Amino acid sequence: MENKGTFYITTPIYYPSDNLHIGHAYCSVAADTMNRFKKLEGYDTFFLTGTDEHGQKIERKAAAKGVTPQAYVDEIVAGIKDLWQLMDVHYNDFIRTSDDRHVKGVQRVFRKLFEQGDIYKGSYEGWYCTPCESFFTELQLKDGNCPDCGRPVEKTCEEAYFFKLSKYQDWLIDYIETHPDFIQPASRKNEMINNFLKPGLQDLCVSRTSIKWGVPVDFDEKHTVYVWIDALTNYINALGYGTEDDSLYQKYWPANIHLVGKEIIRFHTIIWPIILHALGLPLPKQIFGHGWLVLDGQKMSKSLGNVVDPVVLAGRYGSDAIRYFLMREMPFGSDGQFSYEALLTRINADLANDLGNLVSRTVAMVEKYFDGEVQPHGEWEDTDTALIQLAEATSGKVKKHMDDLQYSLALQDIWALIGECNRYIDLNMPWVLIKTDDGKERLKTVMYVLCESIRIVSILISPTMPRTPGRIWEQLGVTEGDLTSWDSAATFGLLPAGTKVCKGDALFPRIDVKKELADIVPEPPKAAPAPKKKEEKKPEKKAEKADNAENAQGPITIDDFAKVQLRVARILTAEKVEGSDKLLHFSVKLTDAEPVRSVVSGIAKFYTPEEMVGKQVVLVSNLKPAKLRGILSEGMILCASDAEDKVLKLCTVEPGMEDGAYIR
Ligand code: ME8
Repeated sequence: MENKGTFYITTPIYYPSDNLHIGHAYCSVAADTMNRFKKLEGYDTFFLTGTDEHGQKIERKAAAKGVTPQAYVDEIVAGIKDLWQLMDVHYNDFIRTSDDRHVKGVQRVFRKLFEQGDIYKGSYEGWYCTPCESFFTELQLKDGNCPDCGRPVEKTCEEAYFFKLSKYQDWLIDYIETHPDFIQPASRKNEMINNFLKPGLQDLCVSRTSIKWGVPVDFDEKHTVYVWIDALTNYINALGYGTEDDSLYQKYWPANIHLVGKEIIRFHTIIWPIILHALGLPLPKQIFGHGWLVLDGQKMSKSLGNVVDPVVLAGRYGSDAIRYFLMREMPFGSDGQFSYEALLTRINADLANDLGNLVSRTVAMVEKYFDGEVQPHGEWEDTDTALIQLAEATSGKVKKHMDDLQYSLALQDIWALIGECNRYIDLNMPWVLIKTDDGKERLKTVMYVLCESIRIVSILISPTMPRTPGRIWEQLGVTEGDLTSWDSAATFGLLPAGTKVCKGDALFPRIDVKKELADIVPEPPKAAPAPKKKEEKKPEKKAEKADNAENAQGPITIDDFAKVQLRVARILTAEKVEGSDKLLHFSVKLTDAEPVRSVVSGIAKFYTPEEMVGKQVVLVSNLKPAKLRGILSEGMILCASDAEDKVLKLCTVEPGMEDGAYIR
């Protein structure tokens, strides 16, 4: 096979968590699928994953368990590796930030940046929470108190090293503008430039003296390297950058793709390129920010308690089915809703019916009509040619979509071919053809076309579903080799006549969805009992209106309620809307990772802009954006008001809740 060059892909390094969920598996499965695809195409590939093990959180968790941080993470990392094995995520290397090779690599980079003047010593001014031993910025505080424990904080100054991000800001804007493929999807590029780069970069604090579990700065050991220089350099440390044997670095760097979740795209497209540029190294070719897997409208996350366990799913349905679902269900780059119904429907419709039935009935017919032997085909008829052309063209379409990281579209095209194969059977009606001599002759061709199309399908699905092709080949009498290569997927007619097929078990047994759902779906949280309606007379007009509306709609279900996304938002800026005595225009922040939103609200008669700034409010965050007096409003701020709108008070949450938190 022709060597097409090298290909280096990475996932983020994961925080060691004892319950990685299906959202984490999404990123790793996507990277693994791409890696397998490139390998199949003939690239010399390298796939890196790993764990991001340092920091105070780990230090504390280990202390709570009475073990060392190293022992604590060792156990978790073993579990993460087991999960990747279960999901058939086959990496070339697994880097841990506690590996000696990584620690030394971080120290070399830190020292070099310091020696050339890009890292300097300064002081970090922040708010210190003594019980938590943590610094916070002004913005991170919750009502002036520690955002973690809610206790008072003290203004403190800590010596720290800083990295001169600001020096490279203009260079980076220019780089991003002139390399349109660097940040993908393209929409993320504008977000980075407009929201973060153009407003100006601040130098980055890159060391702490209060954290011990981390990489020591080797020339100033009371400092520990803080977060991003530690985490991001894993991508070159794993390749031996800066060591005696840097052959992997020479071969594979720059990376082709860093695959990351959308909340960390900022660090990968701002801090990482600047570190690399300052070191004089080339930049990765692409940072691709994928969306989140959400459950009931919210990012799946352990702290929200809405995680779906990939181990359970893979155990019940097999890893190929889960991988297929993850790659097929949502366009890569956008958020995607996880639901058990959608998963089971895909398994039944796409896998059991479309693919599974195609293979089983084709093989069964070759067994029944031709003693299990694929016959030489005759002249092609029009219906054959149409299917053959589609089969030969599909690998090209798949390649194009995979190169754009559009996994879902690639699978859609493969399933279009599978669909055509099934229609071809119905159109040609083998059970009728077999009844006459001429028909039987024609049937040889029909069965040949089907077997050969299945061979092509089996190759095309292999990056996403690594286990299924082998099971198909066993039934089809094909051995791995020339007939299963990527190039052979574009050529129809390679399957030799005389090949012996052999019926096997159903590839994907059908699932009784109702029974399965009852078995697997966790009980929905119980809705709070509706408050009893007051019996008294309702004198106010508005109360009547509200009551009527309630009656007209009837009670809503918990699912209806779940459609409304309520989140804690912090007001960053506030101003009056010109020409209106009712409206205020706010910029509000959810999490650090999300773009700041513009929100217009009719509360100007009750609150001044000055008193709003810094407040936490409750935002309906999934409301369709609208324009009010020409100003974009991306959400609605909730307030309580009396029946006649004479008194209005903001809804808020008790102190100590982080910005962006979900209200449920
Ligand atoms: O961010 N859907 O680690 P992490 C999709 N250590 N992807 C999800 C997800 C979900 N519901 N939940 C998590 C870190 N992820 C840092 C990275 S890299 C130098 C340092 C993805 O364990 C998330 O988007 O919190 C991210 O890409 C990856 O899992 C690791 O997240």
